[in-house]
Order: sequence, then structure tokens, then C-alpha cells
Amino acid sequence: MKVVKLDIKDKSYKIIIKTNVFKDVVSHHISNYKNSKAIIITDKNVAKYYKQKFTFLFEKSKIKNQIIIIKPGEASKDLVLIKKVAEKLLKTGVKRNDVIYALGGGIVGDFSGFLASIILRGIRFIQVPTTLLAQVDSSVGGKTGVNTVNGKNLIGSFYQPSAVFIDPNTLKTLSKKEFLSGYSEVLKYSLINDKKFFLWLDLNYKKINSRNPSTMINVISKCCIKKAKIVKIDEKEKNYRMLLNLGHTFAHAIEKDINYKIRHGEAVSVGLLMAIKLSILLGITKPNIYNLIESHYNKLKLPTSLKSLDAKRKWLPKSLIRNMLSDKKRTDDNIKFILLKDIGKAFIKNKVNKNKIALAIKEFVND
Ligand code: GLY
Repeated sequence: MKVVKLDIKDKSYKIIIKTNVFKDVVSHHISNYKNSKAIIITDKNVAKYYKQKFTFLFEKSKIKNQIIIIKPGEASKDLVLIKKVAEKLLKTGVKRNDVIYALGGGIVGDFSGFLASIILRGIRFIQVPTTLLAQVDSSVGGKTGVNTVNGKNLIGSFYQPSAVFIDPNTLKTLSKKEFLSGYSEVLKYSLINDKKFFLWLDLNYKKINSRNPSTMINVISKCCIKKAKIVKIDEKEKNYRMLLNLGHTFAHAIEKDINYKIRHGEAVSVGLLMAIKLSILLGITKPNIYNLIESHYNKLKLPTSLKSLDAKRKWLPKSLIRNMLSDKKRTDDNIKFILLKDIGKAFIKNKVNKNKIALAIKEFVND
């Protein structure tokens, strides 16, 4: 078991990482919110595996509970659905002291967190992430939100959970694609500020691939510690937290181009390589860094090109650049990029030559 603390003054909370964590969730509820209803939000896929197991523990302890099951997929991150679920909760008598549990991946977490932040002007919520991406990234740090036709996560709030409970065993029911999609965020942390972690990941790739629970507890806790440190310094992403967007300017543009038909982490996987390629083209990093990272990609079979995300699509660098210009992270006409000086040495760059960006993207069109 590992416990990571996210320290943000009156909003501090613990991230508990252990096998069979559902029992701890219910004990925590009994100790802290005995007379509160547990409102469990999950999606159909997750419900298939964990609904019974999770609700049974609340039932057994005679805790009032209610389950809301949404459809899996980005389409559920929608204001109309938020309104529908909020009205259902209001009709069934939600109270200020009730607790929303987000049981699932990033979509369930973002949806539930946003709903918790606005219903009755904010009720408590607890993250119980079941995908690797949610366990190492989206469940920690308080970003919540829904999508609009103008782009992803453009309506939302910073709203910290009261706790995060992570069971590495839930990773076993993920498809290979889903698991690897989350792994790209793990890799991201190592590239940002921890070369030693990158080398450790490279050495332990077989245990990671087999989702060995104790290895995964180490991986997840390491990522949560890193994220907690960054969020503590810059919760509202004024500057420093932007480092967590390494590879994401490219990834968001890729996702938008393909109408969000691929997983976020798959796009991040290629986006990270693009950011490194751009760093090389700008003369900031040495070309051999790329080969080191690419060899790690090949060991794990992570996607390395736009073609590997969608072989039939005609990918156009111009179109990706257009998408970048509508990214919400922009503060002016410049696109902000996170670049690498070396593995573990990421930094924020404000102005980047557009021709170099196009050149970096071009290298990934035909691979
Ligand atoms: N996923 C990046 C962040 O939470 O800031």
C-alpha cells in the first residue's frame, strides 16, 4: 500500500493505492460521512466488472446508495447529460452532505467532478479511478469538465476530490490499447523531470506490460507524487502545471482532427514523440534522445506515428496546426509548447516557429 498526500491548504487530500481498495472506500465513508448517501457514477463498461462488488460493500454496511450509469465515451461529457443527471439527483433528494463517487476512467471522473462542483453549489466527491490514465493523471489534481462543439473540456472547473482510491487490480480488465493509452501519461512524467524514472521504466517494461500489481503500485504512486508536487505549486495552471501538457498540444490537435475517435492517451503517445522531434529541429535537444525513447516505445508497442493511429486517414500538418490555434491553453496568438532539453528536462516555450512545427508533424505522417 502507498499513500500520497496532495497538499493544497484547506483542500488537501490523500491518494490511497492498494489492492482491494474498495473496502477502504467504504470504511472511509463510514468514518467520515456515516449519514451521507453514496452517489456512485460509473459507465456501462465499468459497471459490468465492478458495480456489484462496489455497491455490495455499501449495502452490507447499510449505507444509503444510488447508482448512475452513463454511456462510455467522450459523448457523455456533455452539458445536457449533466443537467439530466443533476435533475435526477435533485428529484431523488440529493443533500449537501452526500458524496459522489466517480468509479471509472477519465470520462467518468471529469463528468462526476464537474457535476459535484455545481450541484447544490458543490458537494463532496471521491475518485475511484479504474483505468491507468485516470489513476496516474486525471483523477488527481481537480480538473473537471465537459466538451463542447468548440473543443474538449472547454466548460469545467478546478474542483479537488476529497480523496482518491486506486486499486491496481482494476488494470487487469483493461484492453491492451486502453492500458497503453494510460501508459503514455506515465512516460510523460518521466520525460518531464525524472530521467532515473525513465530508465527504471525501461528496465521494468516486462513487469509493466504484465500489469504486475506491486510494480504498478510503484508506477502509480510515483506518478501521483509527481503530479501532487506540481499541482501544489500551481493548482490553477497559471504556468508551472503546463509542464503536464508535454505532448498535449500535438495530442489535442490530433484528437480534434480525428473527431475524438481515438483514446486521448494514444494521441499523447504520438504527441510526445512530436514534441521531442520539434525540440531536435529547434536545436534544443540531441537527436540520440529520440532513438532512446523510440526504442522504449517499440518494447511496449506504443503507437509511434499518425498512420498507426488511423492508417486510412490522410493526415495534413496544416490541419493539425489549425487545430492547435484553437487550443484553450493559448493565452495569445502564440502556441505554447512544452519542449525537452533532455530526458527529464522539460520546459515551457512561448514562441515557436510554425514552419518547424509543420516539419515536426510531417515526420509522423508516413512512418
Ligand atoms: N492532465 C494534466 C493536468 O491535470 O494538468
